[in-house]
Amino acid sequence: MFNNPLKLLYNISMKLTVLPEKTGLKKLKTSYTAAVVLDILRATTTITTALENGCRGVIPVSGVDEARQLAGSNPNLLLGGERSAVKVPGFHLGNSPLEYSAGTVRGKVVVLTTTNGTGAIKLAAQKAGTVLIGCLLNARAVAEKLLNFNGQILLLCAGTGGNFSLEDTLAAGWIIKEFLALKNIDQYSGTAAAELHRQADDVYNGVIMDDMAVACYRLALYYNNKTLDALYDSLHGQKLAQLNMYRDLIYCSKLNTSSIVPIYRDGIITI
Ligand code: MLT
Repeated sequence: MFNNPLKLLYNISMKLTVLPEKTGLKKLKTSYTAAVVLDILRATTTITTALENGCRGVIPVSGVDEARQLAGSNPNLLLGGERSAVKVPGFHLGNSPLEYSAGTVRGKVVVLTTTNGTGAIKLAAQKAGTVLIGCLLNARAVAEKLLNFNGQILLLCAGTGGNFSLEDTLAAGWIIKEFLALKNIDQYSGTAAAELHRQADDVYNGVIMDDMAVACYRLALYYNNKTLDALYDSLHGQKLAQLNMYRDLIYCSKLNTSSIVPIYRDGIITI
């Protein structure tokens, strides 16, 4: 009857947790019903764009050699990815979402390797029943999808080199903001939540958040629609700007332009 342990403690059905960088996941014992992987600059934005533009699937791999071996000489496979934000020599595509146009990717499968993002996706699959791919482009679509789940939900920020990154946590916050709005919660407030606990009543329509999730939510409220400002504020955003990749920052900062939610299953990301 009580297959969800959270329900034993409070009258809640979902706990939203945000991990600010992927390596922290290895030591966690929790299993998650669903995880949303976020690498806004740029892996998960690129994957979402590729699939939106008719790509048949994206195979995330961790290493460059592994990617080359997998792709072999198959003409239907495109090799994509970066190291230090720059296209890997000999690959068809880098990691700019702008390269993944319909003319290039429609009907193709892409083998993708990136510094942080593709590894985060594979790691998430070890801990979560369902792995979704999120970014600012599909924040509302991801939030809508999360309505179908309960239990422990993880928003996994890829981060950069084992460190927190502003743009991924901002996207986690935006997904939470959209999710709470869908639950008719305009403003999350800890004080109101405590009062609901006291009354042993439903806590925010059955949702609780860890402190990092609350911080991300507040970050999204702070930047609000000025997501491009946040990307320029971020260290990786600065690096891309130095490499003259301004157009990528503008593109990756767009909110709710896509209604697709890519899913990673059996080694491949599809919609
Ligand atoms: C990553 O996976 O680290 C990123 O997507 C790097 C980038 O291409 O900007």
